[in-house]
Amino acid sequence: MRFDYDVVIIGAGGAGLYAALEASGAGKTAVISKLYPQRSHTGAAQGGIGAALGNLEEDNPEWHAFDTVKGGDYLVDQNAAVILAEEAVRAVYDLENKGLPFSRTPEGKIDQRRFGGHTRDFGAAAVKRSCFSADRTGHMILQTLYQQCIKNNVSFHDEWQAVDVVMDGSRITGIIAFELSTGELHLVSAKAVLFATGGFGRMFKVTSNAIANTGDGPAILARNGLPLMDMEFFQFHPTGIRKMGILITEGVRGEGGMLFNRHGERFMEKYAPTLLDLAPRDMVSRAIITELSRGNGIQGSGAIDDWVNLDASHLGKEVVESKIPDIADFCRTYLGVDPAVEPMPVQPTAHYAMGGIPTDVDGRVTDGTTLWNGLFAAGECACVSVHGANRLGTNSLVELIVYGRRSGQAMAAYVKDAPAANPGSAGNDKLAHWKKRIEALKKGGKKTGDSMEAMKETMMTNVGVYRTEKNIQKAVKDITALRASFGEIGAQDRDAHFNMEVLSILELENLLDLSLHTSAAALARTESRGAHSREDYPERDDAQWLKHTLSRLDKDKIKLDYKPVDVSRWEPKPRVY
Ligand code: FUM
Repeated sequence: MRFDYDVVIIGAGGAGLYAALEASGAGKTAVISKLYPQRSHTGAAQGGIGAALGNLEEDNPEWHAFDTVKGGDYLVDQNAAVILAEEAVRAVYDLENKGLPFSRTPEGKIDQRRFGGHTRDFGAAAVKRSCFSADRTGHMILQTLYQQCIKNNVSFHDEWQAVDVVMDGSRITGIIAFELSTGELHLVSAKAVLFATGGFGRMFKVTSNAIANTGDGPAILARNGLPLMDMEFFQFHPTGIRKMGILITEGVRGEGGMLFNRHGERFMEKYAPTLLDLAPRDMVSRAIITELSRGNGIQGSGAIDDWVNLDASHLGKEVVESKIPDIADFCRTYLGVDPAVEPMPVQPTAHYAMGGIPTDVDGRVTDGTTLWNGLFAAGECACVSVHGANRLGTNSLVELIVYGRRSGQAMAAYVKDAPAANPGSAGNDKLAHWKKRIEALKKGGKKTGDSMEAMKETMMTNVGVYRTEKNIQKAVKDITALRASFGEIGAQDRDAHFNMEVLSILELENLLDLSLHTSAAALARTESRGAHSREDYPERDDAQWLKHTLSRLDKDKIKLDYKPVDVSRWEPKPRVY
């Protein structure tokens, strides 16, 4: 079928919903989402939104911007970080006015807690900056924004998987989507399209990411010739539930929780003497892996699948139940552990993609040379870049609301003067291609499982917290082989309705492409910076590598190019915490 809109948003997480809400006044707006909106992965963000409200301790946006730049190991575009920190304050109050039920101080102000790498006075001490709604902050954002979108007549196409874009040169004219419940393919025209499809942590074996986080937006655009930026930087959150990877919020440490090894040592004292457990995530994850490999994990095996303990029991039942109730529930349900009385077993978990679709500060897709007209991206799938080489906790939600909102406003301005979208014969050709392709996938073949597992294993082992040339080369080789044999995969299920096998083939294709971007970019970067930690190149090398990577897919190879980082505000310095 054919649908016509002014604005189409792909993805119903916080960035997509905020953009839809802002754009909805300017034209006919639709959100296309592979999930029901309230199931979007924004709901997994537990601990809060960083904003320098200064409700409990002195704070200001300049300190927040500086922490973001330093936390990102100076690969952050500094102008974008300043916008992030300054507009965060207004965005939090906007959400409050739209109905978000923040946790409160006894006087009724929005409550705030500490989070890793957020400091006062340019690093002097940790500061209470994270605005939260218990440990359900992401869920509350989704509920609030979804209700506002409904009120403002945004149309929702739930359980539709976007599979392609229709371009007229560098102008987008529409997209192709696969409706899961019927198996139909649709051509959707739009003057402006925003990708807000979230992350792609599913390329790793242990991850906090939901099953749906398969990088659909970046993969679609990369297959259409667009570059991706800084794909080598993938964050491991230090505290995932052992083996399962489910997130235990950094808010636990923000409330006073502490990490211990098997000897009962508070080992962060050795690695970050000032901020301790609240050092940035890349440092805490490396510290845990180092402890494990030295035999200091709880089992003492020396293997990196050992674990350390996160203890919040000294906080007492009342704090645990009021400030971190969801994670207490997860631990009781999945581990039989009650955090109010005993420690939680944790290990680093693949959590967040710092890289993605390159944009300017209004969400417009650009690599600095070409601007793709009508094409926007926001949230985790985008790279503005405010996170650089390592994102600070809470800044994902800040990015969603600040840059989701800005992108929506930019789309609203754009569609007022933009020509009517006309996908024309290019649209019909793509629609016909996708109908044929989906039918062909239903002719049977190998199942996705083996390739999916092989991809996750090689990415986890070889492109994880610590990396070496030899390991990354192995990942590039493995992923290249998996992509070469991808054509052997097919669905056994021929049904048109809810054919989840077809969906998982499309998702695997996306993850394999993005794994190649990640590993090829990681192999080339011969330095250690933020979450990209090369054992064979342990130092940060600003002379050679203070630059963003642009990776382009060229058949079975990745071509790399680089562009400068905006360091207009703070001179890069070594990171000490
Ligand atoms: O630890 C957390 O609550 C996660 C938040 C984030 O990734 O920003």
